[in-house]
Amino acid sequence: MYEQVSHALLNEILDELSLTVRREDLRHFYTRLGANFYVIHSLFSHLYGHRQDFKRQIIALTERLARAYIDRPRALEEIDMAREGDHNWFLSQEWVGMALYLDGFAGDLPGLVQRLPYLQELGINMVHVMPILRCPQGASDGGYAVSDFRDIDPRAGTVEDVRTLSETMRQRGMLLTLDVVVNHTSNEHEWAQQARTGDPAFQGFYYVFDKRDVPDMFEETMPEIFPETAPGNFTWDETMDKWVMTVFNDYQWDLNYSNPAVFIEMVDIILFWANQGADIVRLDAVAFLWKKIGTSCQNEREAHLILQLMKDCCQVVAPGVLFIAEAIVAPSEIIKYFGEDAVIAKECEIAYNATFMALLWDAVATKNAKLLNQGIRNLPDKLDRATWLNYARCHDDIGLGFEDTDIRACDYEPFAHRHFLVDWFTGAFEGSPSRGRPFGVNPKTGDARISGALASLAGLETALEADDQAAIRHALDLILTLHGMVLSFGGIPLVWYGDELGTLNDSSFLQDVNKAGDTRWIHRPRINWERADRRHLHGTHEQHIFNGLKHMIAVRKTTLAFADFNNRELVDVSNPHLFVFLRNHPTMEASSVLVAANFDAAPQYLDLEELGRRGFLRYGQLEDLVTGEAPALFNNRVVIPPFRFYWLTSQQTRTLF
Ligand code: GLC
Ligand code: GLC
Repeated sequence: MYEQVSHALLNEILDELSLTVRREDLRHFYTRLGANFYVIHSLFSHLYGHRQDFKRQIIALTERLARAYIDRPRALEEIDMAREGDHNWFLSQEWVGMALYLDGFAGDLPGLVQRLPYLQELGINMVHVMPILRCPQGASDGGYAVSDFRDIDPRAGTVEDVRTLSETMRQRGMLLTLDVVVNHTSNEHEWAQQARTGDPAFQGFYYVFDKRDVPDMFEETMPEIFPETAPGNFTWDETMDKWVMTVFNDYQWDLNYSNPAVFIEMVDIILFWANQGADIVRLDAVAFLWKKIGTSCQNEREAHLILQLMKDCCQVVAPGVLFIAEAIVAPSEIIKYFGEDAVIAKECEIAYNATFMALLWDAVATKNAKLLNQGIRNLPDKLDRATWLNYARCHDDIGLGFEDTDIRACDYEPFAHRHFLVDWFTGAFEGSPSRGRPFGVNPKTGDARISGALASLAGLETALEADDQAAIRHALDLILTLHGMVLSFGGIPLVWYGDELGTLNDSSFLQDVNKAGDTRWIHRPRINWERADRRHLHGTHEQHIFNGLKHMIAVRKTTLAFADFNNRELVDVSNPHLFVFLRNHPTMEASSVLVAANFDAAPQYLDLEELGRRGFLRYGQLEDLVTGEAPALFNNRVVIPPFRFYWLTSQQTRTLF
């Protein structure tokens, strides 16, 4: 958009830039900057326009963008151009992700390069390597307390190793996702160290207070994220003799985005990792980016403006790079992290679908899909050119953040229902085979979340211990059904490492003082590669899960209806145990896929009459894409065995996929 004020300023900035970076070819940079500058300028003035140094700051920002562009390797710039020409590339059904802790999965970065064939064997072509930047030796919240945003933790390798990894992955057609922890730094970060020496400029990077007055006001409305291990949101720093805001752990200092210097540094860091070859950048804890007294300090409007501004800046330098929003908040809030508009107010292309994840677990515990159906029905529509990251488990806990109104609509009482879920998954409920642990228990509010490995939550650990074949079978079916839902819902599926082998809880974290208080470590395994070889051994649960998942991934990749073009339609059926949705093929009705899952321990019937006039049923006999078989039919009702699911399509069109 052309507008005089911002354009006049842009001319000034470009004059200055041309003096400093004269010999470079900045053609592409200039076109993109011209296209985005009006928005960058207006967002930046909205956030920082009241400051005397506004102009100096926006010049500094633009200069950083130019330098990052100059540093961008040619090979990556070519990818940017290719993706500009094929802007829906990431909505394809071909992408399947895995998230992993480097040390637990492969030891270090060179080790991960060695393990890429294993990932490809499974069909993984997007890898999220959990934080590997320099962090404290002891407790570091799994690397989410960063001490140096431009250096790799020596235990993981070097920046050069990241570039090698990214190049190797590119040759193999795989995408690399890296974290940029935008909300906070470790207390060992240089900025924090400078703040501790009393430097006011660096104290201005954080929320620092002499007395308890302001912190106390904040506390009135701020919830506690880690109530057991890090109660409260402020920490007294002895060296500084001041309070500092620490929403997560006491060693994670919250960055203050009302300071433009913080924003500029963090954009520069995002671009730095984009330039080392990250295809996707995961922005951690984005809901927390703006703090305001009298609010929960989550999902504030300014947090969204900051993300829009980050996106606009990144598009100028590295338009092929995508953002993932990690905002584990209420469904109506999560959706906002895609932005208000896919073009003029875009934020992140991808967001964690925490709603779907938690609802799936609700269906597991209740053995029915009432809340799952209700919650998905009320999940607001997302933008075009935006997609979900769907997952059953990740490195974090399972929060029970569904809407209370949805819980009530299913005739449950919210408090009692959440209490039941925690009891179910921690095995406290009579008859539950689940082996999770409570996390984030807050006696003041009655809140609690759940930790635990997928297989242990699904009952496999209990069944194996009891050597109960029927229970093992059920657990395996349930595990594959959860994967089946994640793979077909619409979005990029993200497998948590170890889950492809049915890895159970690992309690060894209790021996480590830096981890013992945080039960999330129970599901952050160290892969035992000898055990992983059992995926080739017939009759083992490792083989059953690995092969099952591998096969489903392969089917997903060739099923066009599974691409995410907002082509999902939830189907209302009268049987409450079933979760049924239709994935419409973009052009061929006959190639649409009906996904139907049974969360109950008994076989359930799907009445085809209830599907109404949905066209694709007319085309021929139904076939399950996973098994290649026709499902059992009785009086026009499909029988779905306990804890199983189907991906149904009409047989005649099968060859067209
Ligand atoms: C994110 C991470 C979580 C971490 C928190 C603080 O939510 O997923 O693991 O504890 O941020 O960095
Ligand atoms: C809360 C936060 C989320 C974080 C998680 C870690 O749910 O909202 O960002 O990952 O805690 O437990």
